[in-house]
Amino acid sequence: MARVNHKLLQRFIKLLGVLVVCITAACSPASTQSQLIKPTRTATAQAMQSTPQLVAPTLRSLAQARHFYIGSTVDVKALGDEPVYSATLAREFNMVTPEVSMKFSETEPQRDVYTFAKADSIVAFAQAHQMQVRGHNLVWYTDLPAWLTNGNFTRDELIAILRDHIMTEVTRYKGQVNIWDVVNEAVGDDGNLRDSIWLRGIGPDYIDMAFQWAHEANPQARLFYNDYGGEGLGRKSDAIYALVKGMLARGVPLDGVGLQMHISLDSYPYPQDVLANMQRLTALGLEVQITEIDVKTQDDARPMQAKMTAEAQLYGEMLQTCLSVTRCTAFVMWGFTDAHTWIPAYTGHPDYPLIFDASYHPKPAYYSLMQVFNQLSTLRSKPGPSY
Ligand code: G3I
Repeated sequence: MARVNHKLLQRFIKLLGVLVVCITAACSPASTQSQLIKPTRTATAQAMQSTPQLVAPTLRSLAQARHFYIGSTVDVKALGDEPVYSATLAREFNMVTPEVSMKFSETEPQRDVYTFAKADSIVAFAQAHQMQVRGHNLVWYTDLPAWLTNGNFTRDELIAILRDHIMTEVTRYKGQVNIWDVVNEAVGDDGNLRDSIWLRGIGPDYIDMAFQWAHEANPQARLFYNDYGGEGLGRKSDAIYALVKGMLARGVPLDGVGLQMHISLDSYPYPQDVLANMQRLTALGLEVQITEIDVKTQDDARPMQAKMTAEAQLYGEMLQTCLSVTRCTAFVMWGFTDAHTWIPAYTGHPDYPLIFDASYHPKPAYYSLMQVFNQLSTLRSKPGPSY
């Protein structure tokens, strides 16, 4: 009897917890209704439940109901090692980006020797949980294998290497990966094309070529140019705008621009500038996505609680901005838990840039995103056919 009471008590506490989450997140009537799951007879008997079970909305359920993609990068090691990591990822997101596993040095560590095991495991996870994959990335100035950077290749050889790499990777995931960051960070902070083995060895044409090969390998895929520091208005975003406008004029198969959005509490673009930039890009017929948002907190001197409130506000404002542009189709975070973020390894200091804490508890930023979804008054039009 004592055991039964204990179980009942536990169930009551769990239900209370769910209700608290729901109230905190200001659940809309529509989202609450769609989450009422009626148990089957067998399940009812098994669980001895006589009332419907209330399941809290998730970011995924709210985004999906609004025809929108909410995403995170995947750290392939955490995906394999930590059940709570994979469970949270599948519950909260409908889009994933491999953080490292699809890059050149990971996928072709020796010339013509391809290693896709890690990328395959992420794609399989995404398929099993009906998630879209953003392929990241095909051409970048860094994360290249030594055989390539030390190879002293001729222009023709570099063209052949890049073509083979793109054709092999895009073809492998045809039908499974529908969006690619084809070229990543080709524009420098000064607005000129960034120095790289590709620019030096092939010339500026490498950008157009890369898109053409990716399109050849998978004509259905949506192909993106992706960069950081060009989210708002300024020299770099002007240069990116000029680059993509020129590509479209030349007939290059370009579908969208990824705005990475690695921001910090003391340095971020004004949301109205992000909006204006998104509007000028979409006016060209392009799609835009926020592809790598995180908010660095270490340089801000305020107490932690104030920092987390400010972080929540930034996440909310950037989601709000994206949702107000019809052709802004995804909001992808560069990770979701403070337990796995690239920033501490990069800066040498701890940081708290994401929407779950290191114990996988939702932070104020999580509820801020929920609130923005709940306030969205109109349904967005469905994304394009290749999704
Ligand atoms: O997996 C190895 C591990 O076996 C080894 O012991 C360790 C020692 O250095 O390195 C590990 O690999 C690291 C890898 O991240 C996985 O953690 C690499 O050294 C490290 O260079 C790599 O950094 C990644 C970086 O891109 C370069 O690929 C970051 O995690 C990743 O967040 C970052 O992502 C970039 C985007 O692609 C483009 N936009 C900016 C963004 C942040 O820099």
